[in-house]
Amino acid sequence: MSARFVTLVAGIFFFFAALVTQGFLPFFEPSARTNRVTAVVRTDFGQLKWMMTEATDYTPLQQLGRDVYLREGCWYCHSQYVRPVTGETRRWGPVTESGEFAYDVPHLFGTRRIGPDLMRVGLKFSDEWHLAHFWNPRMLSPDSIMAPYRGLFDEPAEPVKIVDDGAGNRTLERTPVSEGLFDFASKEQIRLTPNADGLLFVPMQARGKVPVIVIPNEEYKGDAIKIAAETKDLEALIAYVQKLGMNRGKWRDLFEPQQLEVTEVTFPRSSEWIAHGREVYERRCLGCHGVNGDGNGPAATFLHIQRPRSFAAAVFKFRLTKEPLPTDGDLLRTITRGVRGTAMPAWYELPLTDRLAVIQYIKYELAVDRSDPAEPYAFFIEEPPGPPLYIAKPPTASQQILDRGKEVWQIAKCWECHGMIGKGDGQKAAGLKDDLGFGIVPADLTSGQFKSGTAVEDIFRTMTTGLSGTPMPSYRDALPEEDRWALSYYVLALSAYKDPLTLQPLTISDTDRAALNDLTLEAVSPDNAYVPGASPAQKASELGEGNGGSLTGKQDTAQGG
Ligand code: HEC
Ligand code: HEC
Ligand code: HEC
Repeated sequence: MSARFVTLVAGIFFFFAALVTQGFLPFFEPSARTNRVTAVVRTDFGQLKWMMTEATDYTPLQQLGRDVYLREGCWYCHSQYVRPVTGETRRWGPVTESGEFAYDVPHLFGTRRIGPDLMRVGLKFSDEWHLAHFWNPRMLSPDSIMAPYRGLFDEPAEPVKIVDDGAGNRTLERTPVSEGLFDFASKEQIRLTPNADGLLFVPMQARGKVPVIVIPNEEYKGDAIKIAAETKDLEALIAYVQKLGMNRGKWRDLFEPQQLEVTEVTFPRSSEWIAHGREVYERRCLGCHGVNGDGNGPAATFLHIQRPRSFAAAVFKFRLTKEPLPTDGDLLRTITRGVRGTAMPAWYELPLTDRLAVIQYIKYELAVDRSDPAEPYAFFIEEPPGPPLYIAKPPTASQQILDRGKEVWQIAKCWECHGMIGKGDGQKAAGLKDDLGFGIVPADLTSGQFKSGTAVEDIFRTMTTGLSGTPMPSYRDALPEEDRWALSYYVLALSAYKDPLTLQPLTISDTDRAALNDLTLEAVSPDNAYVPGASPAQKASELGEGNGGSLTGKQDTAQGG
């Protein structure tokens, strides 16, 4: 037998061995065919629990987005696989499960990580953030090496003039370009704001509406704008990116690095901290909040639903103080968690010192009224925030409390703005404005996406202080504490057993629902997830856990009882 013959046979053998083990065997491996995953659900009593459920397929739009993702080669730089090593779970979230790839053919695990892993990116950012990021990643992170994807935008070459509409509003001149994007005969308006360079982003939602051009502080003085319009491909790509990781339900509400509860701290003014804070601000915040903190940075034109905050008026929504100004602790909480559902990212990965420094810069340099240049008025020096209000331990949730919450909802007329079932579509909802005159919609409370956090204490804080600068009132004087707690539990229950992405109710039997609602049932990690159909006592053994797991489970209950 010649050496060549041996090599040939060996070559053929190894070729087929590889084909069988990597091409065919995986299809016979049960874990490769499963769509079973563990996901976090919110129970009727506001608790978050892991349960076993099934991954869902992509919608046609998400599938189209996946094709764009493949076409554009996003996978050259982005992996989709959270591994149980080197702190990845603290950076991105729960470890990947095989069921999550049930509908991924071909899978996009990826090996090279030039950019961050995207397995858990769904709902980490808002759609608006992605729009700005695809236009130019460096607007949001100056050190990004991700290429701008401007090819995904519709960018007509000719500028369009800003003209008067005869009724006191500014609108766009009718040209073939603007008529292709808007419907000037429509009764519905959409308010859009160009950035200081005269770039105007036109979202999909603008089609079929009349544009109204709003420039709050005259940041742009030109008489014509350049358009960047959203396209179907872009809409689809964002739908796909938002789906990533969402088979695991409301896991982000349990994500510890993003949680932070401090209210007491306030640091004295220090010019060193302010100087450091300025550097942080210019790198991380300027893109949206603008050079002077006026809320119209280069990326702000993409954020047409919720504009970035202008710091000049020193109005802050999220605080636990009686007076309008927040403590450093309030600001630190907001910056660490981000403002969910808006473009304001969660900055938990930014070093703590950077976060503390940027707070000083915002407080002492940006939250200053400079309308009289001779005498600038620094709000945080003239009207320092008082001590935080005290939030007691929440009462234990019960059906009674929920029933009371429902009553209070009626009495306090929350439905006037938020709608009967909390969808945000009450009779007063249309035409609401915030202090700066931008349109604002009452929160859709069934979405479970709360701007200032998803714990019952967070909702209670909102009930107590209201959201400054918006129509959302404070109920500190109108409702006794007990009723505010009842209301807070009721509000949380509105998003119980709902899918956070589609907002659809989950299919779940009454027995399972009752079992999950049981306040003593512990299901705090994917390993001890509740298995529908199984009695709680069986759940651990069904998952094939070792003795260790069930023993600790028993100890916990023993201690609890
Ligand atoms: C050249 C490599 C590269 C390519 C190609 C690339 N990215 Fe990125 N991406 C990065 C880097 C680096 C970052 C981190 C800095 C930043 O936020 O821009 C990033 C960040 C992101 C983020 C934010 C993730 C997070 O958790 O902060 C998303 C979402 C994203 N990219 C999506 C995409 C999509 C979708 C595509 C394809 C259209 C794509 N990227 C193509 C390198 C790349
Ligand atoms: C991608 C855009 C974007 C970036 C980048 C960004 N923000 Fe924001 N920020 C927003 C938006 C949008 C809001 C308004 C949210 C709202 O009003 O609901 C906001 C609101 C805020 C608020 C007001 C919170 C309150 O209580 O009302 C603070 C404080 C803040 N941002 C700080 C920062 C800091 C500090 C940075 C940089 C480390 C930063 N932001 C970066 C978009 C951004
Ligand atoms: C005058 C109209 C109005 C009334 C009345 C009103 N709200 Fe609101 N509410 C709003 C608006 C507008 C927002 C959105 C603010 C924003 O997005 O910044 C909001 C936001 C909220 C939020 C979301 C907070 C977050 O973190 O995202 C909760 C919870 C809420 N309202 C509960 C209630 C309850 C409960 C009542 C009745 C006691 C009530 N609201 C009455 C207008 C109203």
